[in-house]
Amino acid sequence: MTNYGPDEATGLYDVKRLAALLGVTPATIRTMRSRNQLPVATSENINGGAVWAQEIVDAYFAPKRNNVAGVEPDPELPQVVDLFSGCGGLSLGFQFAGFDVIHGFDNWQCAVDTYTANLGHDGTLLDLSDVQETIRVLKPTFEAAENTPAIIGGPPCQDFSSAGKRVEGQRADLTEKYAYVVSYFEPPFFVMENVARAKGAGAYQRALDTLRASGYFVDTIVLNADRCGVPQTRKRLIAVGFKDEAKTKRIMELLVENQSDTPMTLRDYFGDRLGTDHYYRHPRSYARRGVFSIDEPSPTVRGVNRPIPAGYPGHPGDSAPVAQARPLTTAERAEIQTFPPGFTFVGSRTNTEQMVGNAVPVRLAKFIGDQIATAWKEDL
Ligand SMILES: C[S@@+](CC[C@H](N)C(=O)[O-])C[C@H]1O[C@@H](n2cnc3c(N)ncnc32)[C@H](O)[C@@H]1O
Repeated sequence: MTNYGPDEATGLYDVKRLAALLGVTPATIRTMRSRNQLPVATSENINGGAVWAQEIVDAYFAPKRNNVAGVEPDPELPQVVDLFSGCGGLSLGFQFAGFDVIHGFDNWQCAVDTYTANLGHDGTLLDLSDVQETIRVLKPTFEAAENTPAIIGGPPCQDFSSAGKRVEGQRADLTEKYAYVVSYFEPPFFVMENVARAKGAGAYQRALDTLRASGYFVDTIVLNADRCGVPQTRKRLIAVGFKDEAKTKRIMELLVENQSDTPMTLRDYFGDRLGTDHYYRHPRSYARRGVFSIDEPSPTVRGVNRPIPAGYPGHPGDSAPVAQARPLTTAERAEIQTFPPGFTFVGSRTNTEQMVGNAVPVRLAKFIGDQIATAWKEDL
């Protein structure tokens, strides 16, 4: 995994960042400069060296593009558009399930860049809180398609996430806006992914009301990723809607039937590759444990990754003394989210951790996509 973004504060690439972007050493950058193989620097002397602005780097170096899934889309399945696409976990899983995902939309630049670099089609920067603008921007994508694409998406979950304090803050209404956009375009089906506790929230129920009022038979299920091919406890609320009631019902049956009976552990997924039997995941408070065994599913991968603090007091639930544990790397956490080898994150380490923590695990998304693909093709 490579981090090759500009400096977060200034938006500029210095020699080291440019080297990381191009996959070469800083010495090679200096040689390239002496041979005029680089664009003219934006400034020759910031913090003692040359720097380049993002636009110059973008214009000079063709963006890396790769279709990591490498799966030929199944022509029987509808095309798919992803809203709140993040770095592309949900989209990638649907590609692995055989869907032709054609476009992702998100308002976070590094997520859009990561999406575009790995999915083999465009991600577009868009503020989905502006519904009218969203409809205007999405229309050409929908009008250009031969058949109306399906819509998948995971509106941000922060405001449903911490019970009590922030339930239903500002961003909860993005779930309602998602529902509004779906009902506007009337896709053949939609999938909406939220944190499990969203179910009790008014905004979530209003979103379901909007979808039902526009003719969708909607059902919901809480899936734990660890029963769906992911070595991680991560419970997510999945709403699926078709206008054909039989299809919605069938998908719900398949989502239940095809789960694994046992949770997947890190050892099941990695074997002995991690080189440790225990690892540290910083708890939200010391009332919770921080040391976990690889013979259990990982706890939910979050958007931050902290080192072991000197003062970690230990916890009776720890799987081993903290001295036997190490924190996981960003790359390992991306693997627990089941991002495949070859998936490249574009952004600083902090932003990469956030994108990784935000994502729908790729294999969970594939699991959902697989069941929808099966039901889609059945004659019900
Ligand atoms: C839960 S994450 C989605 C993860 C994604 N489905 C995946 O699997 O990688 C929510 C995303 O919503 C985006 N977001 C938040 N507010 C937004 C807005 N107003 N417009 C567009 N995207 C927004 C965030 O940048 C974040 O990438």
